Amino acid sequence: MSEIVPVPPSIGAGSPNPIVDLGAWRDHYQRVANDPDAYWLAEAARLVWRTPPTRGLDGSFYEIADGPIAWFADGVHNVHDSCVDRHAVATPDRAAIVWEGDEPGTTRTLTWAQLKDEVCRCANALEALGLQRGERAIVYMGMVPEAAIAMLAIARIGAVHSVVFGGFSAESLRDRVRDSGARLVVTQDEGRRGGRTFALKSVVDEALVGAHVPAVLVLRRTGAEVPWSPGRDVWWHDAVASASSAHEAAAMPAESPLFILYTSGSTGKPKGLLHTTGGYLTWASWTHRTVFDVRPDDVWACVADVGWVTGHSYIVYGPLANGVTTLMFESTPLYPDAGRYWDVVARHKVTAFYTAPTAIRAIAACSADFVTKYDRSTLRVLGTVGEPINADAWRWYHDVVGAGRCAVVDTWWQTETGGICIAPIAPATPTKPGAATLPLPGITPILLDNQDRPVRGPGNGRLFLTTPWPGMARTIWGDHPRFVATYFPGPPGMYLTGDGARRDADGYYWITGRVDDVINVSGHRMGTAEFEGAIASLDEVAECAVVGYPHALKGQGVYAYVVLQAGFSASAEVEAHIQAACRTLIGAHARVDLIQVVPGLPKTRSGKVMRRILRKIAEGDTSNLGDTSTLNDPTVVDAILRGAKV
Ligand code: WT7
Repeated sequence: MSEIVPVPPSIGAGSPNPIVDLGAWRDHYQRVANDPDAYWLAEAARLVWRTPPTRGLDGSFYEIADGPIAWFADGVHNVHDSCVDRHAVATPDRAAIVWEGDEPGTTRTLTWAQLKDEVCRCANALEALGLQRGERAIVYMGMVPEAAIAMLAIARIGAVHSVVFGGFSAESLRDRVRDSGARLVVTQDEGRRGGRTFALKSVVDEALVGAHVPAVLVLRRTGAEVPWSPGRDVWWHDAVASASSAHEAAAMPAESPLFILYTSGSTGKPKGLLHTTGGYLTWASWTHRTVFDVRPDDVWACVADVGWVTGHSYIVYGPLANGVTTLMFESTPLYPDAGRYWDVVARHKVTAFYTAPTAIRAIAACSADFVTKYDRSTLRVLGTVGEPINADAWRWYHDVVGAGRCAVVDTWWQTETGGICIAPIAPATPTKPGAATLPLPGITPILLDNQDRPVRGPGNGRLFLTTPWPGMARTIWGDHPRFVATYFPGPPGMYLTGDGARRDADGYYWITGRVDDVINVSGHRMGTAEFEGAIASLDEVAECAVVGYPHALKGQGVYAYVVLQAGFSASAEVEAHIQAACRTLIGAHARVDLIQVVPGLPKTRSGKVMRRILRKIAEGDTSNLGDTSTLNDPTVVDAILRGAKV
């Protein structure tokens, strides 16, 4: 039995949170269950509306094939009314964004008044470049304040942003430009991270060859010489700096698209998940306020990248809607050393901090002095996201970083869910190291066994969610049938998360990881199919299969089984080609950890690769490979076992 860690006594004191104990959690959970429309309309009312919504949910999971669900459909607003403009009036001189650059101590602060000015200038510049309401614009940048400004400026004019993580290759960027039909790209000369620079503008140039993208807005970050296409490329410091700081934010219906974010699935190309303005913002701000128990004078630090959904919901939209100072961090947890996060916490007096288990494990592997030499007395809440957190890492975060005084919240959610779904509420929920604990009000998980039968009480199963909540993605951009097929493949009315989970006797959820062909490496979500496509593109490769396996630091590692064409054999050169193909076709973060050249793949007689066997071998769990008698050629399994890398 795992231990229960009570809420630290200091956490609840003075909290404006309506949910301060488990009784209140139960009460709110029941209130949403009884009348979701009333509950969420009341939460939506905390946003600024030009026409307040009177409608709650339209549609249902049972009718999802007929079209997307909608929330607050008759409401009209612009996310700026809530995220920027009201705070620029109420607290113009307070810090909205605090930026910590790559080199320790390089900081910039934008007050709410300055943020509003900058966003308005940028919006005017984008309009001058021809971007219109409803059109798509790509943001391909590093972690600079201008990335948030660009996102906000695009939203201000009623256009749709699609942020592409700066590690993606030209090939991946091209796919996203094409799929979204983007007509503008915002980028920078180069990015900076961990004392190094990485190319951005030149990658954009490569991605846009043959594409019809008439405008590229380029921020100067490092001052490097970059290729230039006159007539298409415009410098930020020319176009934005000279633009007017007066701009009227477009009036948008609550269900108008806010952003598209591409994410990997188990098959095919990455999917563009579409989030809309009203429900998404309600969810991002409510979950941020509730789970992390934020207070008006907090300094909130989410050290994710804006290229992932965590950055959208918890660097930009949630904190800004809540009027809380949000920190943007350009560097890495280990630059210049393992003390960097706590140096940032001490200097900026951070009150709540949100990171990924992989970063915690990397820092915990170093001396505790890196943490304890910095003043962390301002910290109240410590969050994690992105992958299951092992009990040891949880303990270390709680004991060493939090000195036992801080609430630790392990938050489970996905790009598709828009915001946190299963997590402790900091002042309310006793925790257990490694558990995501309880569903938030409005989230109704169900576990199904392999025959799609509901698991009652404690047990393991595949995690589904059965009722719509305001923050969920509405559809896949341009492909609603794929949305339905991907997320509602099985029992009617159930959203498939792709994760497995265990529910314990207290009703707490422990997420066990993906049960589909998605790999999560250091919080980066990638599809095995993407790796397989990249590797199979090589002339020397006949076929391949890629699976994830447990990795002590990264959560999961990538294991590739590769069958070479006749005449080729395993060599350092072949390995280098494989790595290069993944880098070029996916991105710099797509590295294969283990490559095993095998004589063949285990297949059924109908030719289906038995991935279960390959997964077990990669996990080092070879005692019981299950039934291999149905294999076309059972001897390949022995050959693979002999050469296994783990
Ligand atoms: C997948 C979603 C959510 C923002 C960052 C990742 C895994 C996420 C947890 C957690 C266990 C987690 C799941 C999920 N995941 N948070 N607290 N415990 N697993 O977003 O790229 O859409 O990935 O990340 O497997 O399905 P994403």
